[in-house]
Amino acid sequence: MFLVIIIRFSYVYCGLCHIKGKGKSKEADCSSRGLSSVPTNLPGDIIQLDLAQNEIVKIPAQAFIRYRTLQVLILDSNRISYLKNNSFEGLGKLDKLSMFGNNLDLNESYPLELFSPLVSLTTLNISGNMNKTNVPNVCYPFFGKLHNLFILAVDLSKNPVFSMSGLNQTKLNTLFFNFCFLDKMTNNTFVDMPATIVNITFTGCTILSVTEANFLSPFPSLQILRLIRVCVEFESALNILYPFANKKMNEIKFEEVNPGYCDGSIRSPMAVTITAEMMKYLQNICVQKLVMIRNGIVDFKPKSLLNHYHPECFKEIEFSGNRFSIMNGFKLKELFTLILKVSNLSTFKFSGLMGGIPYPRNDFNRYPLFNKQRGSLIEVSVPFPKILTKLILSNFVGFQETIPQNPIHFMNISSLQHLDLSNFRMNYFPEVKFNGTNNIKYTDLSGINSILYSRRKSIPFLQKTNILILKQARLGQTFKEGTNIFNLVPSVTKLDISYNYLWFVPNDAFKSNKNLRNLNIGYNLFSEIPIAVMTLSKLSRLTLVHNSIQTINATLRNWFDLQNERMKTKLKLNLVGNVFKCTCENSDFILWLFHTKIIFDNKQITFKCSLVNGTVTNTRRVYEEFHQLFSHCKSEIWLRVGVCLLVGFIAFTLPLALIANFRWRIAYFIYRTFKKVVEKDMKSKFRYDIYLSCADDCLGWVKNTLIKKLENSWKMSVCIEERDILAGKIRADAILQSIQESRNIIFIISEAFRDKIWGEFEIHRAKYEKYTRNLHKIIVITRNVSVENFPLELGSIINDVVLLDWSDEESDNVWDKLRMTLFSEYL
Ligand SMILES: *[C@@H]1O[C@H](CO)[C@@H](O)[C@H](O)[C@H]1NC(C)=O
Ligand SMILES: *[C@@H]1O[C@H](CO)[C@@H](O)[C@H](O)[C@H]1NC(C)=O
Ligand SMILES: *[C@@H]1O[C@H](CO)[C@@H](O)[C@H](O)[C@H]1NC(C)=O
Ligand SMILES: *[C@@H]1O[C@H](CO)[C@@H](O)[C@H](O)[C@H]1NC(C)=O
Ligand SMILES: *[C@@H]1O[C@H](CO)[C@@H](O)[C@H](O)[C@H]1NC(C)=O
Ligand SMILES: *[C@@H]1O[C@H](CO)[C@@H](O)[C@H](O)[C@H]1NC(C)=O
Ligand SMILES: *[C@@H]1O[C@H](CO)[C@@H](O)[C@H](O)[C@H]1NC(C)=O
Ligand SMILES: *[C@@H]1O[C@H](CO)[C@@H](O)[C@H](O)[C@H]1NC(C)=O
Ligand SMILES: *[C@@H]1O[C@H](CO)[C@@H](O)[C@H](O)[C@H]1NC(C)=O
Ligand SMILES: *[C@@H]1O[C@H](CO)[C@@H](O)[C@H](O)[C@H]1NC(C)=O
Ligand SMILES: *[C@@H]1O[C@H](CO)[C@@H](O)[C@H](O)[C@H]1NC(C)=O
Ligand SMILES: *[C@@H]1O[C@H](CO)[C@@H](O)[C@H](O)[C@H]1NC(C)=O
Repeated sequence: MFLVIIIRFSYVYCGLCHIKGKGKSKEADCSSRGLSSVPTNLPGDIIQLDLAQNEIVKIPAQAFIRYRTLQVLILDSNRISYLKNNSFEGLGKLDKLSMFGNNLDLNESYPLELFSPLVSLTTLNISGNMNKTNVPNVCYPFFGKLHNLFILAVDLSKNPVFSMSGLNQTKLNTLFFNFCFLDKMTNNTFVDMPATIVNITFTGCTILSVTEANFLSPFPSLQILRLIRVCVEFESALNILYPFANKKMNEIKFEEVNPGYCDGSIRSPMAVTITAEMMKYLQNICVQKLVMIRNGIVDFKPKSLLNHYHPECFKEIEFSGNRFSIMNGFKLKELFTLILKVSNLSTFKFSGLMGGIPYPRNDFNRYPLFNKQRGSLIEVSVPFPKILTKLILSNFVGFQETIPQNPIHFMNISSLQHLDLSNFRMNYFPEVKFNGTNNIKYTDLSGINSILYSRRKSIPFLQKTNILILKQARLGQTFKEGTNIFNLVPSVTKLDISYNYLWFVPNDAFKSNKNLRNLNIGYNLFSEIPIAVMTLSKLSRLTLVHNSIQTINATLRNWFDLQNERMKTKLKLNLVGNVFKCTCENSDFILWLFHTKIIFDNKQITFKCSLVNGTVTNTRRVYEEFHQLFSHCKSEIWLRVGVCLLVGFIAFTLPLALIANFRWRIAYFIYRTFKKVVEKDMKSKFRYDIYLSCADDCLGWVKNTLIKKLENSWKMSVCIEERDILAGKIRADAILQSIQESRNIIFIISEAFRDKIWGEFEIHRAKYEKYTRNLHKIIVITRNVSVENFPLELGSIINDVVLLDWSDEESDNVWDKLRMTLFSEYL
């Protein structure tokens, strides 16, 4: 084992460079080392030399003559502008040369014979160098001796002259134009190019004038044409396909082809409507892969986009990132016609523009559980492409027209395996029926409110799904309703429910998912690991990243260890992004992290963790200083005994004080005095005395009456969501923090509390804080609330709260009770 490691990582430092490998496969990595010249002290037999990101300006004569076995030479991102005719002498074995991102002027920097020694070169990358846009004719360097050149990446200047380049003597296959400022696309632009080219990509082009249709005719064997971020009319771009009509091609890709992308700063495409005239060449090409993404297409006319004369050629179609719909009128008809003919289509991607935009907050509850008027239940029968395996329809806003309320019947989905409907905003989840065998293995329903379908008894197309992705699906609401949504996916082996603002999972949530192996509950609000995971006997990977987990208690630690044995030490636990508590009571957990055989995502086990005094450090450091940090743990027990005695004392004196006429004044005095002592020892720190949670209908009373009393008369600091939690912060995090920093929490329960968006979350957090010792009191004030509107969550902790009924406005009695409750803190 150690031997392997030693061999694996054996390397020598040679001056500044890092030499990897041995014998005939030595590679020198000299990147980003501030070099201003080619190092001459490296082993002579290296096969790769990486000099990227240095300060090299010139390559002198015979600079690489020592390195005759070199196969790959990388000089990217230097400032090279000066080359000699014999700079590359001796590099007869060189296969790949890359000089991307230098200052090499196509017209002047390349001496005629520069590339001649590179007889083996197959890949040359000299793009990203051009820095002049308004220049007259630019003559391209001479490549005529590069008989093996296969791939060339070069800039395309405004008026390129290729006649002296000798490219027509090479057997070039693939051509990339990067910086690209073509003035005109004319029939003559590429006449001197070799006819062997099969692959052309234009990236980042600004093309000023309208094309001549025969622009690409010098490439009769072209298979792949890609235009990426090209600033030209979409119509012109379609017109350059003229030479390929009735030919076969592998791929045509137009990505961000639109004059709206010319200007660097405001990059939004102009609206394009596709007409039959524009499509006349494309319609005639037998193309396997057609990609048109983010081109600003807003609509299309009859017999245009969906009308093709060789539909059987299609294997993959993608129309994502545009703004047109195919779901109405003649379009649907054309689509159905096309579907029946695309017999070889295996992938169809059609995504809208809605991705990533979160739901607006105020429609949080507005989704109807069941749709009331379903109209007549006529099934819509939709044909399905025969061998379509992958269907992606994501990021749409589903309006009434796009989501039929009637059951949809797909005729034969036997080949479909991968279904992605993520972020398809809908307010009715369509009922999908099909015949043929269900083979769908992968389903992504992220961004769709799970409540829309969670109550269904079964959803046929989910029955065999192995991989289910449910990010941002508002599972919290679904769990709250008590529906067991995972019954719908009995075969699931991998489940991703991250980003759901979840803080609990019902204990029996996974009871029908016996095969679940890989569970991702990252990016939620869990403060403890849900015990539902303990029902997963096949679990081998659990992702808990970015939650609020502070520790893993003994029950779960034991279970994880057991599971790890069951899984033959293959259990993986991902914990990054939580801040653990490195306190006395968690010292076992810290030790466990270093002794368990479970594989963590952070191999060094440097998880964040906070000490008693609030300092954030990492678990490894805590482990290393274990004895210093936890030696006082025992004495803390004694401190607590002291505190208990103190509490006993107060408990004894307070009633006496009350009996005397001083009533709460004495209690308050005692409270103040002892609070300071006790708190100093307990090292607790609170920003607020009270966290106050109330619904909108009580806000007036709270602001005008309650807060005034609390803050002005009783001098307590109050945190209230509407006032103290700043807009713009992540709400859940801010609430969580404020509750953590509050000594007590008061819930004002009114009729509207049930509708309060964060109410339930606050109750949950209060519970959590109460049981993790931070929070002293939970006070529940009810104001004219009917029994059915009293939050169920509070019911479960009713024994641990102080309940005050405040339905009667003028009651002195309640003020007294509240005061007593707040001030008798350690009782
Ligand atoms: C390289 O250029 C020098 C002058 O700068 C010239 O004498 C020499 O003949 C050239 N070599 C080749 C191979 O063209
Ligand atoms: C072009 O050159 C100027 C200075 O000569 C430099 O500031 C600029 O970044 C360069 N632009 C590119 C795209 O390399
Ligand atoms: C490039 O070279 C040609 C002739 O060698 C000259 O006519 C042209 O002006 C040069 N272009 C630039 C931009 O220097
Ligand atoms: C050329 O080099 C740049 C920078 O490394 C890279 O982004 C680009 O893909 C390369 N082009 C080719 C064709 O290898
Ligand atoms: C290459 O192009 C040059 C200039 O147009 C021409 O003179 C030469 O005959 C061509 N060679 C081949 C092999 O086509
Ligand atoms: C065209 O270039 C792409 C990207 O480098 C490559 O994957 C593909 O194999 C090339 N196609 C041909 C036919 O050489
Ligand atoms: C370019 O080629 C097309 C198609 O062959 C032809 O119709 C057009 O006249 C040509 N343009 C010029 C300027 O020769
Ligand atoms: C379509 O697929 C069938 C069989 O899968 C094949 O025989 C036929 O050649 C394909 N057609 C095209 C145009 O690729
Ligand atoms: C599927 O349904 C369609 C239409 O209802 C029917 O024509 C076809 O025969 C059915 N296929 C199978 C395999 O049942
Ligand atoms: C459904 O698809 C399967 C698999 O592609 C095929 O074997 C079957 O014949 C198809 N049935 C119909 C009715 O199209
Ligand atoms: C450990 O934590 C789980 C919840 O994560 C809880 O249900 C269980 O009771 C705890 N066990 C102990 C011993 O505290
Ligand atoms: C917190 O405690 C640690 C260890 O006892 C100590 O190193 C650190 O300086 C303390 N930080 C503060 C802010 O007191």
